[in-house]
Amino acid sequence: MSGLTVKDFPKDFKWGIATSAAQIEGAAFEDGKGAEIWDVFSRIPGKTFGGQTPDVACDYYHKFPEQLALMKELGFNSHRFSFSWARILPEGTGRVNEKGLDFYRRAVDAMLENGLMPNATLYHWDLPQELEYRGGFLNRDVVNWFTEYAGLLFETFGDLIPVWTTFNEPIATYVGYGLGAFAPGRKSEKSGRQANHNLLLAHGSAVKRFREIFGEKQGGFDTSRPNVGIVVDIWHHHPARPDNADDVRLAELENEKAYRSYLDPIFKGGYSPALLKFMADSYCLPDIRPGDFELIKQPLDFFGLNCYNRVVDSADPSKVRQAVEFGGGNYMDNGAEFYPKAIYDALHIMKDMYGLTIPIFITENGTYNCEEEPVRDAEGRLRVHDVTRIRYIDGFLEWLKKAMDEGIDVRVYYLWTLLDNFEWTAGNSFRFGIVRSDYGAENLLLKDSAYHMKEFLLG
Ligand code: BGC
Repeated sequence: MSGLTVKDFPKDFKWGIATSAAQIEGAAFEDGKGAEIWDVFSRIPGKTFGGQTPDVACDYYHKFPEQLALMKELGFNSHRFSFSWARILPEGTGRVNEKGLDFYRRAVDAMLENGLMPNATLYHWDLPQELEYRGGFLNRDVVNWFTEYAGLLFETFGDLIPVWTTFNEPIATYVGYGLGAFAPGRKSEKSGRQANHNLLLAHGSAVKRFREIFGEKQGGFDTSRPNVGIVVDIWHHHPARPDNADDVRLAELENEKAYRSYLDPIFKGGYSPALLKFMADSYCLPDIRPGDFELIKQPLDFFGLNCYNRVVDSADPSKVRQAVEFGGGNYMDNGAEFYPKAIYDALHIMKDMYGLTIPIFITENGTYNCEEEPVRDAEGRLRVHDVTRIRYIDGFLEWLKKAMDEGIDVRVYYLWTLLDNFEWTAGNSFRFGIVRSDYGAENLLLKDSAYHMKEFLLG
């Protein structure tokens, strides 16, 4: 790790692996789980790479003991995972599937036995299909459906899980209802904005429920009691030509439509004038009712930041690559830009624009497809070289450290992810793991990045 050691981070700083239910669990129709929107969407021809589905994924449902033990063996001490709503409430509301609860009881116990602090997300993009039939996130009743589901989990697991996230990356719901590119595949700007607004209300309502169960927010973040927050991804848009008014306008609007459309209501209590104007001009203002923003703006115990990269925008797309190359950035062998400062910029956005004082978690960071095919080393052992992933992780950790040295309160870093998994529309064509798997989690092979992390964490 270029110069940095784990000792450069605070002693109680945690290091984790992040995953999500639909991407790793498999067992999509086992033990009473209901269908969720990715089970259905992935079966529509052309929607996912090779028509792949989450049916098997990493088979975590059956193989979680080995996978959690591997996290521990590599030196990690927290696991960020998500609950599958349809595994617990197959119809989304009402009837509880005890076998689903039992699976999570066993998994959470195994996390604790392996010294992995559980960090649970309630919603990572997998709405029960039965709720989608009732309008999904376009139906304002989703607020009550989600609150019922959240309350059940808080009550069942509250004493075992110190960190709770309502939603992971609300923008995925916009991509599913506004752009049609993700499940459930609806496509209109108005639907996208309405789905987002309802999701934010569901977030606020679940946090209120959390406080009813565990008591009002007191003091700071403290893992001896349950804490609640939300995870938003910041891919900050930069103008390719900072002196070109069209590029600047474009990048600004994209930032408004993306991360600010969530962070402004959550932390400032309303949509920005720029976003309201965009929504009014494009006839896609959501149905906003009195009291909505009071509900959305609940005090949180922590903020989760997912950070993978930045975006460079230009009114003239041919300028983008040029801007990145001459601007000091460069591209990785997977075609993505290598810009580790993205994490530093995103942390500063939270501190400087939003005045955040609650702790921040880096809830996801990672990269894909930089591994070579397995080869045998001199001793005949199979190795998977992924030097670009190592460079990526090191680069982000250096910028993370710099932001922390400047006083930004970050408590944990989660790498995305342990095993190559079901990468949504990309199916298994995008490998994000530090461990190579044949899908179904057979034939696990530690990539060089896994050895690198182990060396960094355990010395
Ligand atoms: C999501 C993950 C996804 C990862 C890599 C994040 O935006 O939360 O579910 O696998 O990016 O694309």
